[in-house]
Amino acid sequence: MQGQSKPKPRILTTLAELRVARRAMPGLVGVVPTMGFLHEGHASLMRRARTECATVVATNFVNPAQFGPREDFSRYPRDMDADTRLCEREGVDYVYAPSVDTVYPSGFATTVDVAGVSARWEGEYRPGHFHGVATVVAKLLIATGANRAYFGEKDFQQLQVVRRLAIDLDLPVEIVACPTVREADGLARSSRNVYLTDDDRRRALSISQALFAARDACKAGERRAAKLGESVRSLVTDAGLAIDYVAVVDRDTLEPIEVFDRAGRILIAARVGSTRLIDNIGLEC
Ligand code: PAJ
Repeated sequence: MQGQSKPKPRILTTLAELRVARRAMPGLVGVVPTMGFLHEGHASLMRRARTECATVVATNFVNPAQFGPREDFSRYPRDMDADTRLCEREGVDYVYAPSVDTVYPSGFATTVDVAGVSARWEGEYRPGHFHGVATVVAKLLIATGANRAYFGEKDFQQLQVVRRLAIDLDLPVEIVACPTVREADGLARSSRNVYLTDDDRRRALSISQALFAARDACKAGERRAAKLGESVRSLVTDAGLAIDYVAVVDRDTLEPIEVFDRAGRILIAARVGSTRLIDNIGLEC
């Protein structure tokens, strides 16, 4: 494709436009829901969708309902022009970028609450967060009528919440999980990384390093979840981060496990300066 310019994605902002466009979309439709300020992590989802679907729709909507009252909704980074260029580069066909009023018109009163898998971890530290995520994802999956929807393992609990909601609401969509994209040094790509000062960024590296070390310890035979959790905790605390949680869990239920006798996951949320970061890693023992 070098030297050949790709067609620009069509930007849709209203439900009516989306519905008209949807009727004309050929073949399998893949959707990549995002909050914009796109980076390589988002691009990897788009690329995967591009290889599997005839039509690729990205959504770009900073969803107020998933931010707590003291969180960063108003200062969440936005750059629609750069986002459009990235979508164009990745061969996205449509970008659905609705306004807040389009998604939540006056009188809006419905909340999607996925019990169980939403309860702990992010659900505990960000009350209401997964109600906002589940509600908007349900709306976006229904509105786009997508056959496949692409989500990153970077937000592992979100992925499991979305899987559950798609099953429970009988949505005719396949949820596709994509691996976490990291910087060369291991830091998970995130729109929130722009908040990090150089010093924060150096400290933040302890998160991925601690997760890699735990994975290696597991591979080398350490099966005790408490030991693995403690080692992550101490490496990250020593780097000066404030930990919200380190959880060693069953991959599917996200319930804590004591001994690895099945596929597990370590989840972490920690704050560096005023920035809250999350990451996770799979453990195949
Ligand atoms: P956002 O943070 O923009 O992420 C959009 C999608 O990109 C999510 O599925 C997320 O897991 C994935 N992603 C982000 N960073 C990634 C990385 N480093 N590697 C791989 N995938 C990555 O997640 C949301 O938006 C919102 O909660 C949303 C689902 C759009 C609902 O509002």
